[in-house]
Amino acid sequence: MKEKIVVIDFGSQYTQLIARRIREMNIYTEIVQPDEVDSMLNGSSNIKGIILSGGPKSVNLPNAPDVSLRMFSGKIPVLGICYGMQLIAKYFKGKVRSSEKREYGHTLVRCSKKSPLFKDIPQDITVWMSHGDDVQILPKGFVETAKTENGVCAAFESPYNNIYGIQFHVEVTQTEYGTQILRNFIFDVCGCKPNWFLEDFITNAVEEIKKEVRDGRAVCALSGGVDSTVAAMIANKAIGNRLLAILVDHGFMRKGEVGSIKRYMRDELGINLKVIDASNEFLSTLKGITDPEEKRKRIGEQFIRVFEREALRAGNIRYLIQGTIYSDVIESAASGSTTISRIKSHHNVGGLPEKMNLRIIEPLRTLFKDEVRRVGAILNIPEQILNRQPFPGPGIAIRILGEVTSERIEIVRKADAIFRETLEESGWKKRIWQSFAVLLPIRSVGVIGDERTYGYVVALRAVNSVEGMTASWSEIPPDVLRKASKRITNEVTGVNRVVYDITDKPPATIEWE
Ligand code: XMP
Repeated sequence: MKEKIVVIDFGSQYTQLIARRIREMNIYTEIVQPDEVDSMLNGSSNIKGIILSGGPKSVNLPNAPDVSLRMFSGKIPVLGICYGMQLIAKYFKGKVRSSEKREYGHTLVRCSKKSPLFKDIPQDITVWMSHGDDVQILPKGFVETAKTENGVCAAFESPYNNIYGIQFHVEVTQTEYGTQILRNFIFDVCGCKPNWFLEDFITNAVEEIKKEVRDGRAVCALSGGVDSTVAAMIANKAIGNRLLAILVDHGFMRKGEVGSIKRYMRDELGINLKVIDASNEFLSTLKGITDPEEKRKRIGEQFIRVFEREALRAGNIRYLIQGTIYSDVIESAASGSTTISRIKSHHNVGGLPEKMNLRIIEPLRTLFKDEVRRVGAILNIPEQILNRQPFPGPGIAIRILGEVTSERIEIVRKADAIFRETLEESGWKKRIWQSFAVLLPIRSVGVIGDERTYGYVVALRAVNSVEGMTASWSEIPPDVLRKASKRITNEVTGVNRVVYDITDKPPATIEWE
């Protein structure tokens, strides 16, 4: 059995990011829920280290998530991050102060050279904080190993007990030397040896699908994007010709996209894709709907109904394989969840209806976009597919604010195509993670010749990101934006104003709905 690091999930948006950083060090990682810790400790002798994630709650609340004390036996090294650190402080009878004000963003921290966690990093580093509470009084036997400029305890440890705590998020790229700090914990404190690779991920995913589907058949939802293509290739390895690949054309694809997806699936990957034109039923299910969550839910529901119908038609198919990735899962967290808050229902996760006749299999559920791209490269999926920009399952329906109508779909399609062409011609396309046009359902006054116009506003959005969890707006030069704006107002009837979105994620999300 391979040695592993266990991450206990207290509901932070960044929990999977911790796991991902450790995967990047070629160490196997498992994420477990707080109530699974006891059985995990009973059943496993190969745990080399435990990491307690951050979380949105305060440890001082009566219903704050908790874990078994058995974790702190001293035998297995423990690292608590943010909430995890505060939980350690609470257990060992320190004092955690709850402040009304949340500290959020970049903070300067001074680190002690004596701590093994801070080996090979400068004394002063800028880190990413996101917390409401902090450790006011250290527990007995613990020493402070880092401090913020405001004197707040930023890290502590009890080397004798093998326990470490860090107040800031080492797992996000905004923390300088964050990965190095994590490496120091994984390799020096826990003594791990790199022995897990993405090829192992593929082997496990294939095995799991084989175990689940056995001699049955599955339908696979292809959208032409990287995620669903990689999921299909993994499923194909597992069950071969017992897989039926379907693309549901909901009518919200970009210009010319359905035809080109069908072609390259057949020509490049040898996948015979069945395209179902369901555009009329999707449009009518959205009639009169303006609320973004309702839109996403209705699209998700309709999507499943089409698949159920097709599965029935093809005879005795019980499974649906989808390319859901981690950012879809985390942002669609169930509204009933006590630890995570819902940001939006990604249609292949949170937008699913409660009752459905297909069992869902999501082999990429724990991976981030760039990891999916690397898995795709191992599976020999051509660059042209791997480097496609992410495109949301609900398509341009969530890029039309307000009600979706045929007229509005046409406007966004045209504006989007022009923006894409402009970026391509200028060489900017490959420097951008994702770009698109959004139609705002408001109209503003303009003038053409001597005529007054009263037209729609189109917002252009282009962002840079590594995995979609955070993003910064792309600094496209004014002449490129001017060209796109001119062409859109000239060529797209009904639009007389173009604006450029200069908001990062957070506080905005990448899509507008
Ligand atoms: P947001 O808008 O949440 O998006 O910042 C993060 C990334 O996810 C994409 N996205 C989706 N992908 N189904 C998907 O498969 C969805 O429902 C969905 N919604 C957003 C978005 O385009 C961005 O790349």
